[in-house]
Amino acid sequence: MKISVILAHPNQESFNHAIAGAVLQALAANRHQVIFHDLYAEQFDPILPAEEIARDAELPAVIAGHCREIAEADGIIIIHPNWWGQPPAILKGWVDRVIRPGVAYEFLEGDSGEGVPNGLLKAQTALVFNTSNTTAAREVAIFGDPLEALWKNCIFGLCGVTDFQRRMFGIVVVSTEQQRKKWLAEVEEIVKNIFAATDE
Ligand SMILES: Cc1cc2nc3c(=O)[nH]c(=O)nc-3n(C[C@H](O)[C@H](O)[C@H](O)COP(=O)(O)O)c2cc1C
Repeated sequence: MKISVILAHPNQESFNHAIAGAVLQALAANRHQVIFHDLYAEQFDPILPAEEIARDAELPAVIAGHCREIAEADGIIIIHPNWWGQPPAILKGWVDRVIRPGVAYEFLEGDSGEGVPNGLLKAQTALVFNTSNTTAAREVAIFGDPLEALWKNCIFGLCGVTDFQRRMFGIVVVSTEQQRKKWLAEVEEIVKNIFAATDE
């Protein structure tokens, strides 16, 4: 399968980068074709310019490339820390510019954008890995777990991805080396289970 992996964390030494490493290792072990973007390392420009908003806009080559890849992906994996209940701005900008009309969703004929869009993504499964310094119970009770709603409903649900899975690791700041090793083993196991070995 063709799997798109998107990482958003500025620090190469971060646990998020370690998660990305485990994800790539698991996908390679199961012989998937992987397209990997480390958005900070690539200095992805997250600012959506006015002229890119129209559905038929002419896109810069780098954005057109991202759009082609995400449209062709059989599976999508997103990795980022919880920053204010949101993804880092660089990833929000990637969503703004890449998860665009005509690529990831469309409005039906006669609908000028006021109706319920039709999802276009070919990927059936999206997997999101997050890290956090809040307990899972507090994240849900006090903040309403905004990352779950954002990725599951606002983005992947809207774009037609029916199988959504997410794992939030925490609390990272007080985690031991041993705990992080266990988490990375869990990442590999989750990825291998969801994206089983293929001969394609
Ligand atoms: C700008 C910023 C905002 C953050 N906001 C939150 C937050 O809202 N909730 C939370 O639990 N942690 C928050 N954190 C902590 C990060 O989630 C935490 O440092 C990260 O998940 C740890 O993983 P890492 O080692 O890969 O950075 C924030 C960190 C930064 C730098």
